[in-house]
Amino acid sequence: MNLTKSTYTLIYDPLDQQVSFEGILRLVSPNDVNEIYSYLVDIHNRIQGTFRLNFRRLRYINAAGVKALSLFVKYAQVKNKLTLHIIASGVIAWSERVLPNLCQIWDKVEYTVYDHNFYKSQEIIEDGEFIPLLRNQTRIIWPLEKEVLIKHGLKKGSRVADICCGCGDTPLLISRELQPSFLLGIDHSKAAIDYARSSQKQFNINNAEFQRGDATTLMMSDNSFDFVLCRLSLQIFSQPDLILKELIRITKPGGRIYTLCEEYDTIIGYPESATIRETYRLASEYGDDMGMDLRQGKKLFNMLADAKLEDIMVDHITVDTNNANREAFSKVVESWRHFSVYTIGDSLGLTDKQKATLKAGYDAQLRTIRSPYGYTTWGMVACSGRKPIR
Ligand SMILES: C[S@@+](CC[C@H](N)C(=O)[O-])C[C@H]1O[C@@H](n2cnc3c(N)ncnc32)[C@H](O)[C@@H]1O
Repeated sequence: MNLTKSTYTLIYDPLDQQVSFEGILRLVSPNDVNEIYSYLVDIHNRIQGTFRLNFRRLRYINAAGVKALSLFVKYAQVKNKLTLHIIASGVIAWSERVLPNLCQIWDKVEYTVYDHNFYKSQEIIEDGEFIPLLRNQTRIIWPLEKEVLIKHGLKKGSRVADICCGCGDTPLLISRELQPSFLLGIDHSKAAIDYARSSQKQFNINNAEFQRGDATTLMMSDNSFDFVLCRLSLQIFSQPDLILKELIRITKPGGRIYTLCEEYDTIIGYPESATIRETYRLASEYGDDMGMDLRQGKKLFNMLADAKLEDIMVDHITVDTNNANREAFSKVVESWRHFSVYTIGDSLGLTDKQKATLKAGYDAQLRTIRSPYGYTTWGMVACSGRKPIR
């Protein structure tokens, strides 16, 4: 029971008793208002309990659209039969400004912003302070990853999307060096998107665009990109398959989905091997407690195969003291040490003793990087697959 018009669709899911609004709700005539109102009233009259109105994919609503919703809430108030649950999105500019007003009409309207604290480490990762860490990581990964991206099918002239693009360094390097026809970077963090836009402007890069968005509910149409990336991000979500589903949806049939995740089980070093290994074992466990999976790399092949992607390719990307600038590598490990011991450590309430044990391996790895006789690694897995043509 859907209502489909040229710029918007209302989709009813009877399992969740939920109407999802999608597109652009620009109503013009009183008839348009009446049509939406009647559609909602009709569903209202058939169900019990809670009625959900989900606005996570509605890009715009005009005053007449708001009027249709207000009329419906007033109708529900008079009938007093259901509870209404309004679901907003933090990345849609109008949503948090307009929708709370509906709760003023009647006290049986519940309001949720879907993506406030929707994964455990959100506050930490979306903070602007995370940006220097991302930048230092890109400095040492890019020289290795560029070739991997070409091997996995990123070609000149492709339409590319980078979902969870962070502060934009990798997408802007792709724009400059691999010459896609267009690159769209999406990230949930306002600080990261502001940073990406200012870099883009500073370096005068014209074939890219950055938008705030939610990877679990992308606004882009089906089948619209040749190559879709999601780098160093699937590991922070408790339900990465929800994101993979969206990555696949926006990829053109025959296009490729490329994922990159860390694999802490492959981080090694010498001397002080045991101390380094123990720290990354502990960091993985504390990561699990924060809802992240820092050993996700080895699982990517299985995820992509399970999603029925074809021609799956896998490559290890191993940054090490031989292929990376040692100074840049040590900056990355210093950032991890700070993030892991203090940011995560405080968040999990680790004792001083636990923090000291965790810190010991980062200190040992830093000594290894700074010694001309030391060797150490940072391991990641890159895995991509082709979306079937049919
Ligand atoms: C570990 S960072 C990786 C960023 C970037 N890909 C890189 O490699 O530098 C994870 C990114 O995912 C973003 N993110 C988290 N939840 C998101 C969501 N639901 N939709 C889009 N981006 C999200 C964060 O803001 C953060 O920038």
